[in-house]
Amino acid sequence: MNTSSLSLLAALVLLPAPAFAHQAAIPFFGGQIAASGDMHVEFAIRDGGVRVWLRDHAEKPVAATGKVTLLLGGAKSEITLRAEGDRLVGEAPVKTADKVVAVLALNAGGKAVSARFAQEALVQPGLNAAASVGQGLFAANCASCHGPSLRGTDQGPPLLHAWYAAGSGHDDTQVLKVIGNGTSGHMWKFGDMPKPEGVKAGQEQDILAYIRAMQAANGIGSAPAAAMPAMGDHQGHAGH
Ligand code: HEC
Repeated sequence: MNTSSLSLLAALVLLPAPAFAHQAAIPFFGGQIAASGDMHVEFAIRDGGVRVWLRDHAEKPVAATGKVTLLLGGAKSEITLRAEGDRLVGEAPVKTADKVVAVLALNAGGKAVSARFAQEALVQPGLNAAASVGQGLFAANCASCHGPSLRGTDQGPPLLHAWYAAGSGHDDTQVLKVIGNGTSGHMWKFGDMPKPEGVKAGQEQDILAYIRAMQAANGIGSAPAAAMPAMGDHQGHAGH
């Protein structure tokens, strides 16, 4: 290798992070992301409230104050957000299963940040025998973290998410493996999923049937692996 290609290599290695700024921002906590100027806002609805994270293009948390206006079943309510660690939280009579429109108005050190989010009402499909057994198992073993609506909680990510669609990098084999063994945190910032101790061998298939039925009814169909963020060897789960 000659000197000029070496210095080219050095220049490439030293490229600052903003070179990747146009890559889709990752929803660390399973929420929806909107861009606002050079910042992005992650917004999530939980049962009983909302969560907001404001980050700069280098994923550094940005302090802010503000409010969210929720449009919920034809009624409008305005909720003042309060800071809690790296995020803003607000209590509201909202459910993860609800159809909601949320309009955020934040102030980040004098800079106005606004964003709009929407979520459809959860569709409860008719379930076959395996999936309805799975529904009960899910409620008992999974809902505490993934939510009764499979839309996530403060403890775990949503499973009604393109990353977990049938045919994605998280195919049936992968989901069954996780139900049997848990998984180390690698997609989000929730940490590890412990092995679900309450699930007996053979019950994984019923839980999978329930998750797939809920995904199909809620528009999470077969997704190309490209829907997942580029994260090294993640796509084929070679690293598990
Ligand atoms: C104590 C909380 C907790 C419980 C209970 C739990 N999970 Fe998880 N689960 C997590 C977390 C956290 C992750 C995200 C790990 C990561 O960062 O990828 C996760 C990830 C997953 C994934 C994606 C796996 C992957 O390869 O990325 C699936 C599928 C899943 N969980 C299904 C389930 C099912 C089904 C149950 C019930 C049998 C369950 N989980 C119970 C916390 C939990």
